[in-house]
Amino acid sequence: MIQLIKGFKDILPGEVETWQRVERVARTLFEDFGFKEIRIPIMEKTELFARSIGEDTDIVEKEMYTFPDRKGDLITLRPEATASICRSYVQHKLYAQDPVRKFYTIGPMFRRERPQKGRYRQFYQINVEIFGIASARVDAELILLLTILCQRLGVQDVAAHINSLGCPECRPDFKTSLLKYIDTVADQLCSDCLRRKDRNPLRVLDCKVPTCREAMTDAPSIIDCLCNICDTEFKTLQSTLSRLDVHYVMDKRLVRGLDYYTRATFEIQTGSLGAQSAVAGGGRYDGLVKLLGGPDTPATGFAIGFDRLAEIVQMQGDDRQRRPDVYIAAMGEQSQSLAFDWVCQLGRQGCYSEMDHQGRSLKSQMKRANRLDAPYVVMLGENELNSGAAVLRNMTTKDQIDIPFDQLVQAVIERSQKK
Ligand code: HAM
Repeated sequence: MIQLIKGFKDILPGEVETWQRVERVARTLFEDFGFKEIRIPIMEKTELFARSIGEDTDIVEKEMYTFPDRKGDLITLRPEATASICRSYVQHKLYAQDPVRKFYTIGPMFRRERPQKGRYRQFYQINVEIFGIASARVDAELILLLTILCQRLGVQDVAAHINSLGCPECRPDFKTSLLKYIDTVADQLCSDCLRRKDRNPLRVLDCKVPTCREAMTDAPSIIDCLCNICDTEFKTLQSTLSRLDVHYVMDKRLVRGLDYYTRATFEIQTGSLGAQSAVAGGGRYDGLVKLLGGPDTPATGFAIGFDRLAEIVQMQGDDRQRRPDVYIAAMGEQSQSLAFDWVCQLGRQGCYSEMDHQGRSLKSQMKRANRLDAPYVVMLGENELNSGAAVLRNMTTKDQIDIPFDQLVQAVIERSQKK
């Protein structure tokens, strides 16, 4: 048997309904806040991700699915969407009419991480990006969107963690004091941290190895090193969140795993998913559009881990499989043929019905109707064929009535609309 690739997964009926609901709720919410959908390719030139996400990140160093195409050009299955959306914004000059643009996109991403619960090699993200607004008020708007989405989906046990990563003005000073601290605990750090610390000491704060986390407990906080503008913006973020009644946690260790971030960063974390605590992550990336050849444009956004969010919703017992409006229990070839015509006519008119094609007994068909939770059953056998009327049974009240064949479809539709 050929099995699927490690870290990839099928989303089967039973789960898929939860995914559809999450997507529906998210789309409605984003559109209420003025976001437009954008669709971007699954593959891009490797250089786009290397330049945007950063050469020293885990994603670019060891997780990308990169290969030469037939002409030898390096291409990569996208590990995230932000770089592609910026590429598109620059390439199509989407800023020309109005630099302020609000986008969302939903789709698969690929990272060759070690698979575990909540961590896959093909996973899905729901991405939201805002271009052209520098104010931290819109960072607060993004966090508000995430909390509304969680509320609408009934997801509890989540908290918004926030931090600031400063800007090219103030971050160098922070890096220097961080590096000084790192050198005092270097003997407790993993080999990745030791290798990266000089080029990018922030990565050490982000390392998930327990001994590194322990060693970095007393590391200096970037909040103490922010320049005036970054400090004011971070305070605006906090006061706006408070005004919007969004609860948040200050988290000085939150540096995120991608290099493009500036100023506000945030994550929605949960205790429901074991080690994979981040349901969504994002922040401001004011330098990226310019880095990719566009005009100097502030930008901010987030991505939700769709798999993780759907898993939490599912754990809460989200079981919304559509039940049939009617089950047609037909006995004998001629009855089955008539039942099949009714199933097709009902489906055409938006009414979902099920029938048996295996010639099972009435008893086992009634059992199946019960299992599918059909509110009505139509019974059709030799007697009914002779009389020209089928029996319609209300499965709740157990009442039965005879319905002439030519009125049956209409009778079922009327009842399905009454529900
Ligand atoms: P990220 O933190 O790398 O950020 O990913 C965002 C979310 O995607 C994570 O919080 C997590 O829920 C989910 N995720 C990441 N990797 C996996 C995986 N292997 N399996 C399952 N879920 C995963 C970004 O990707 C940024 N582009 C977010 C952003 C948008 N920042 C600004 N705009």
